[in-house]
Amino acid sequence: REHALAWKLKQSPRLGRLWVDPGANAGLRALGTPCPQSLEPRNRFHLERFLEREDVRLVVVGPEALLEQGLVDDLHKPPHRLVFGPSRAGARLEWDKAWCKQLLRAANVPTAEGRTFNHQQLDAALHYVRSRTDPVVVKASGLCAGKGVVVCDTPAQAEAAVRSMLEKRLHGDAGLHVVIEERLRGQEISVLALVDGGTIWMLDACQDHKQVGEGDTGPNTGGMGAYCPTPLATEAVLRTVEREVMVPTVDALRREGIEFRGVLYAGLMLTHGGPKVLEFNTRFGDPETQALMMRWKGDLLDALWRTAAGTLDGADIAFTEGSSCCVVVCAEGYPGTPRTGDVIEGIGLAEASAGASERVVCFQAGTRASEGGGVVTAGGRVLAVTATAPDLQRARDAATNAAGHIRFPGAFLRRDIGMRVLRAPATA
Ligand code: AMP
Ligand code: GLY
Repeated sequence: REHALAWKLKQSPRLGRLWVDPGANAGLRALGTPCPQSLEPRNRFHLERFLEREDVRLVVVGPEALLEQGLVDDLHKPPHRLVFGPSRAGARLEWDKAWCKQLLRAANVPTAEGRTFNHQQLDAALHYVRSRTDPVVVKASGLCAGKGVVVCDTPAQAEAAVRSMLEKRLHGDAGLHVVIEERLRGQEISVLALVDGGTIWMLDACQDHKQVGEGDTGPNTGGMGAYCPTPLATEAVLRTVEREVMVPTVDALRREGIEFRGVLYAGLMLTHGGPKVLEFNTRFGDPETQALMMRWKGDLLDALWRTAAGTLDGADIAFTEGSSCCVVVCAEGYPGTPRTGDVIEGIGLAEASAGASERVVCFQAGTRASEGGGVVTAGGRVLAVTATAPDLQRARDAATNAAGHIRFPGAFLRRDIGMRVLRAPATA
């Protein structure tokens, strides 16, 4: 995600100098100068002095953990220096699912029906899952890098999930509260919008693939691949999402005294009863962003600046025709503990494999530069191989084919990104 954002920011005629996170992966580091100050909360004083000295005018925050830590609150100094991203209070939609659920319910935003329990209510939570006859989903309320959600088939699984969070503290403090909700059925889409406090600008919708295995099997991950746009998000669906989800959520936040600025990302299930919210994220999706950036037409820097400044109304945001598809190449062990330190080969070959009407870019995630000048694996999701083409089938083929050129021991990927809609008609 961060590599893709930086790749697009680099294309802006307004970009002066680009600084990147000191802990950035090899791809991101190659695009800018590593900031010499750590982003740790305890280093904010020095980080701010550094931003002042270098006259940094815009800070773009990628990951949710920094939002929860209040990085935006600390660094946003309008009009001179703006930070793209919500305040800690706005990001609460993502870092406190229990609170989010309450807010959605109060605002009548369609979402799965459910209840919240804390660690002192273990027995009540267990009683609740045993008493439900329909399958449920158990969610840790806090941030868990996409791994805090257990989609259950049986009450026994739900009970085990509740115990793992409330009793065994599998997710630490992030699991001290759990949300237990009805399991929804349908196709899932990701709708991201830029929000500047007032104006809501809906971006082209994507479909992510959360489960680790082909055919949607195995545990959930942070995302194994995405494509954009998805034909599931028809005009009618997008209008409904804007009217019933985005607008009432931004309004509900405002009633709480929170002016939301940044990306509002709704994870939605398209149910028989219409789109329902599975979760909100308050930052760009990963890997949705890689698919979005490859089709982004205008000046991203201008769009992000305007979002942070509250002047999104005059932005020039558009997407190229055709489709993009992102295939994530993972390291052995993911979504558990991945194997790391292996040399990655084939990035050049993958990018050169694009056909005449295609383009392929290998965005990096879990990588680092090795001493010998190469790139080695350093995380579970290693590369996001992303292609654009005139249609989804060709984008999927180009990305999957390109990803096949990537070599490191234990590398794996899903070859069925986009296949849910390619196999079935879009109305399924
Ligand atoms: P979340 O982090 O809340 O989006 O959950 C991660 C994934 O779990 C989602 O992308 C869905 O695939 C699945 N999920 C979450 N909530 C539900 C639900 N109520 N019904 C069915 N699947 C769900
Ligand atoms: N693609 C899922 C996420 O960014 O949370």
